[in-house]
Amino acid sequence: MLALEDADEVADLYREAYRVKLEHIGAKVSVRGLIEAGNVCAKDCFYCGIRKSNAKVRRYQLSEDDIVCLAEQSKSFGYASVVIQSGEIESEAHTMSVERVLKRLAALDLGVTLSLGEQEPDVYKRWRDAGAARYLLRIETANEELYRKLHPANHSWRRRLECLRTLRKLDYQVGTGVMCALPGETVKDLADSIRFFRDEDVDMIGMGPYIPHPDAPLKGVEPMTKAARLAWGLKMIAATRLTLPQVNIAAATALQALADDGREQGILAGANVIMPNVTDVEYRANYQLYAGKPCLNENAGQCRSCLDRRLEAIGEKILYGERGDSLRYFERCKNAQR
Ligand code: 5AD
Ligand code: FES
Repeated sequence: MLALEDADEVADLYREAYRVKLEHIGAKVSVRGLIEAGNVCAKDCFYCGIRKSNAKVRRYQLSEDDIVCLAEQSKSFGYASVVIQSGEIESEAHTMSVERVLKRLAALDLGVTLSLGEQEPDVYKRWRDAGAARYLLRIETANEELYRKLHPANHSWRRRLECLRTLRKLDYQVGTGVMCALPGETVKDLADSIRFFRDEDVDMIGMGPYIPHPDAPLKGVEPMTKAARLAWGLKMIAATRLTLPQVNIAAATALQALADDGREQGILAGANVIMPNVTDVEYRANYQLYAGKPCLNENAGQCRSCLDRRLEAIGEKILYGERGDSLRYFERCKNAQR
């Protein structure tokens, strides 16, 4: 499926994946308010715009009050789930701060997803106990060798894998994902990523095309058109939906950086989750992982109306007020009880 190139055949692939999405999930899209809580990061991935060594980035960290306030705002918009994402920080002070935020969020009755990178098992446990239900940690590529080429020597694919397995043991709903169209990546690598999702039996998947960032060392390697990058992202969504009909698949914002209607195209290729940004405009520009991040000047309210309009146009309904848990997670829990 991933190797298809003929335009009609590719269109058939998207259509079939969308049919499977409709069959299992319906014409419905789940939403999560995305809170970009801070861009301080200990990691130095060669592709990323907010990597530690990029001295051009103005670093910020939202206060605990700010984060809670954005979560309240998300709830008032009808987003019953939020994702708190930031750069990777491993410290007791950070762990405690996240714990305090989670305890305050408990009163809001929201589905809370964390996306705070690699951590020690006891940190994941503390955050789970404090109320986090889901965790996103992209493996970035299932090919350990390729991972090594895209990261400094002290970054470990094995540790990321161990983190995912720990999260699973701690009964999080676990999300992972990859970038696609990475320099040096083959169709087999992409197919192996989908096998990885299946074999690790994850609940949620977030995938997006790699988009060069001008201040990251990987920039300029293997130029590719926006349309070609977008097509890789869409083919990955479609092939993943056909392999794993019940998982939650996000239409990543990176798709929208490549085409104005990129996220809608993602839904029509089988994705069922969208994560509208609720971060204040003041900070959005400082959280640019790749070039051309959309909606830098839109506030959360504008993003909500825009999303409404866009999804209505393709006949999809936003599940306001619903947490939108992964069907795969419930299936997994049922099997465990048997
Ligand atoms: N292009 C696309 N996605 C990127 N990410 C980081 N840098 C880029 C880039 N240049 C993704 C990684 C990471 C997530 C937060 O953002 O997959 O896990
Ligand atoms: Fe690793 Fe940003 S530094 S994804």
